[in-house]
Amino acid sequence: MSRPEKENPPEIYYNNEEAKKYARNTRIIKIQTKMTERSLQLLNIPEDPPENDELAPVLEKIEDKLSKIETKNTSENEGTELESEGSYESDSPFEDEQNSEDEELLALEQELESLKNRRKSSFILDLGCGSGLSGQVLTQNGHKWVGIDISESMLDIAVQRNTIGDKILLDMGQGLPFRTGVFDGAIAISSLQWLCYSNKKTEIPFKRLSTFFSSLYKCLSRDTRAIFQFYPESPDQIEMITTAATKSGFTGGLVVDYPESTRAKKFFLTLFSSTTIKQVPKGLGGGENLSQKDVVQYVVEDKYKKKYQNNQRKKRNWKPRKKSRQWILRKKERQRKQGHKVRPDSKFTGRKRKDRW
Ligand SMILES: C[S@@+](CC[C@H](N)C(=O)[O-])C[C@H]1O[C@@H](n2cnc3c(N)ncnc32)[C@H](O)[C@@H]1O
Repeated sequence: MSRPEKENPPEIYYNNEEAKKYARNTRIIKIQTKMTERSLQLLNIPEDPPENDELAPVLEKIEDKLSKIETKNTSENEGTELESEGSYESDSPFEDEQNSEDEELLALEQELESLKNRRKSSFILDLGCGSGLSGQVLTQNGHKWVGIDISESMLDIAVQRNTIGDKILLDMGQGLPFRTGVFDGAIAISSLQWLCYSNKKTEIPFKRLSTFFSSLYKCLSRDTRAIFQFYPESPDQIEMITTAATKSGFTGGLVVDYPESTRAKKFFLTLFSSTTIKQVPKGLGGGENLSQKDVVQYVVEDKYKKKYQNNQRKKRNWKPRKKSRQWILRKKERQRKQGHKVRPDSKFTGRKRKDRW
């Protein structure tokens, strides 16, 4: 399959026509949405700690309920101790009341839990936001976002779709012009690989990647993440990307989802804007989590594994040349299995006859 990155620079490849096609394709919409949801999961936005005054009334109600139940239990126990002397089957008139109290307590506990689990509304940078598909997922999840893209046509679609985030026409290879520490995270869905190709002599991919990563590191607040779903073409590209990211201060590694599936397999470069080494999350479907130093090795091995699998497939599907000895032997075998009367094989079977005069 040909790579669009090799055809034209992104601002030309994603022209009006391509942008419209992209925005209408339901398969693309589904895949990009799924990949954004996964990136959001990997982004691991911290929970917003609830304010004390929001928790206090619920906690108070729970304590009140618990103390009431406790008092009732003690008085009931005292009652049963006295009654047990007379020993009769207890058919408590309080049972219904007890159940409704339990339910009330459970509901209160659930309310408390959901308050605690409330997700923080974060400010996310969407790199190569395109037609705003990823931005829509961010909005649905309660986040604010700014999207940048090099293609005017793609941004036009994002505007027509009435997506909520701010959209800026920008080449990320030239660096990001945002304030220091302003974003709580960044995502890039299928855009990073574009930086690995140059369209002019003056465009040096490694230089562009380094400029991009160092400006990204600056505008992310500390201890946040940047998730890049991307399609690397070769181990060299991965090495170039990870070297540029490390040089800019990022730590992290690669998450590989569904490594055994050709279609579902996805790469997510997971970067941490902190100097402390953190564990890279595990990939889905028996997926891998590779630290930066293992990434290239993995991709090289993966490439050879693919080559080996392709060779095996070729071997399995191999067919002898028509009218060759092997072709005839196979055919005879097939006919024997079908119960036909077939002459026995000999050293002359399939032998080429001499031309006669
Ligand atoms: C495959 S589209 C993905 C769009 C969007 N993230 C989505 O999930 O639908 C790749 C996008 O990356 C953008 N892109 C490529 N190179 C870029 C660059 N150097 N700076 C900014 N955007 C770029 C393209 O214009 C295109 O809109």
